[in-house]
Amino acid sequence: MKTVRTIAELREHVRGWRKQDKTVGLVPTMGGLHAGHVSLVEQSRTCTDRTIATLFVNPTQFAPHEDFATYPRTEEDDRQMLEQAGTDLLFAPNVSEIYPDGHSTRVEVQSLSHILEGEFRPDFFTGVATVVTKLLLQALPDVAIFGEKDYQQLCVIKTLARDLDIPVRIIGGATVREADGLAMSSRNQYLTAEEREIAPVLFEAITQVAEKVRDGGSAADLRTWAEAKLTKAGFGAVDYVAVRDAQTLGPVRDASRPARVLAAAYLGRARLIDNVAV
Ligand code: PAF
Repeated sequence: MKTVRTIAELREHVRGWRKQDKTVGLVPTMGGLHAGHVSLVEQSRTCTDRTIATLFVNPTQFAPHEDFATYPRTEEDDRQMLEQAGTDLLFAPNVSEIYPDGHSTRVEVQSLSHILEGEFRPDFFTGVATVVTKLLLQALPDVAIFGEKDYQQLCVIKTLARDLDIPVRIIGGATVREADGLAMSSRNQYLTAEEREIAPVLFEAITQVAEKVRDGGSAADLRTWAEAKLTKAGFGAVDYVAVRDAQTLGPVRDASRPARVLAAAYLGRARLIDNVAV
């Protein structure tokens, strides 16, 4: 697996593969890799001939008070993991390659970016949408794969690819969980040993909410119930526990359409997010 740091080198590799009629998959990451990322690479390999992983801690998706400076940067370990998973090329650009001086364009997916996560992280999805649009246009893959763990992010990315006519198929990869149900995340490293014991309660709570919704429970009552469960377990602020239409992420108006339970809550300094299908 070769590592390249410039868009020109990335494009040269893709051009070579295209000449050989190879299909290309893209797995964007910010590093701090775990089995969830490996599963995305494996998924890409099942449906394309060549897989590119990207490693870029994207500054525009972090608010000034967030963890950009301390976000796990473990390039050598990440490289090894990606290579073992069968990645063909790693694109690991510097910030100036992606955002050269004078860069002033942002991509904003309206409305979807300002609900749920967007209420608590107002610029987050514009940062994600901007960098993902750039990565898609730089690599021009046939498919790009993003974890369902960040379900709203996946919806935002599907929307931008559709709205901007980017010729790529956006695919969601199933959330990979620890044995006790905690969704794998680079930010789980922020949990202390004691918090790590409590963390699976988030998955437990949203799974129970999904079951209760199926049994006809009201979304508002269930939110209160889930918040109380999380607080009792030792969680701090609960940003949201919401039952939404799985496609629009708006309120569920038609019970016959797929729905999703999404939640975000603090546990110590970690902010955990998770979601499950109803
Ligand atoms: O999910 C992530 O790791 C990031 O938000 C992404 C999609 C790589 C964009 O920086």
